[in-house]
Amino acid sequence: MTQDELKQLVGQAAADYVNANVPEGAVIGVGTGSTANCFIDALAASKGRYRGAVSSSVATTARLEAHGFKIFDLNEIESLPVYVDGADEIDGTGAMIKGGGGALTREKIVASVSDVFVCIADASKRVDVLGQFPLPIEVVPMARTAIGRRVTALGGVPVLRVQKDGSPFITDNGNEILDVKGLRISDPRTLEAHVNAWPGVVTVGLFAARGADFCLLGGETGVERIEYRKA
Ligand code: A5P
Repeated sequence: MTQDELKQLVGQAAADYVNANVPEGAVIGVGTGSTANCFIDALAASKGRYRGAVSSSVATTARLEAHGFKIFDLNEIESLPVYVDGADEIDGTGAMIKGGGGALTREKIVASVSDVFVCIADASKRVDVLGQFPLPIEVVPMARTAIGRRVTALGGVPVLRVQKDGSPFITDNGNEILDVKGLRISDPRTLEAHVNAWPGVVTVGLFAARGADFCLLGGETGVERIEYRKA
């Protein structure tokens, strides 16, 4: 199976999970990226079951609206029964690197208020230790260089994310992203808290304090459900 086919498989599996476990009339939290897009497309067949969605990015909002989902501002919603999103890497504890698509801050906010976080990924995303994929950090632009120095002191190599024309990539929140190469993240929860405390950091793309509750991982033998939630 190709990677795209695996993404469709886990997108459908996540839609099946939501349809079977989330009550009718609920509002669903929806992530960003190519795997999340497969989930959106699969859930569209049963959109009438749901009141609507809280979206984690401008791109996801556009895709949900194209399918006829109503979008809610998170401020209007008291709780979300489920949040479904992809990952750039996921380790054996359910901690993830996210933000390859640049939506890490809104993703982390929506994930933080959701009862259940379902990660959907193809098997290439599963790793023993996070850090092979560059770690995104969303920064307030004036703090970019100061934060870059702190990253270098940690042993990482910060690279400003740019667009095809060479200009800085700007997030939905008007900020920039440093992609950090060269880190071996054996304690993601500690690193997440450490980097988040630096002035000028909006969000680090480590999802460890609020990791996935389970992952629907697509591989050659189908979809495997891997549980992480601690008792
Ligand atoms: C978006 O900012 C990211 O967190 C995505 O969820 C992550 O990059 C996975 O994207 P793909 O599903 O496109 O690999």
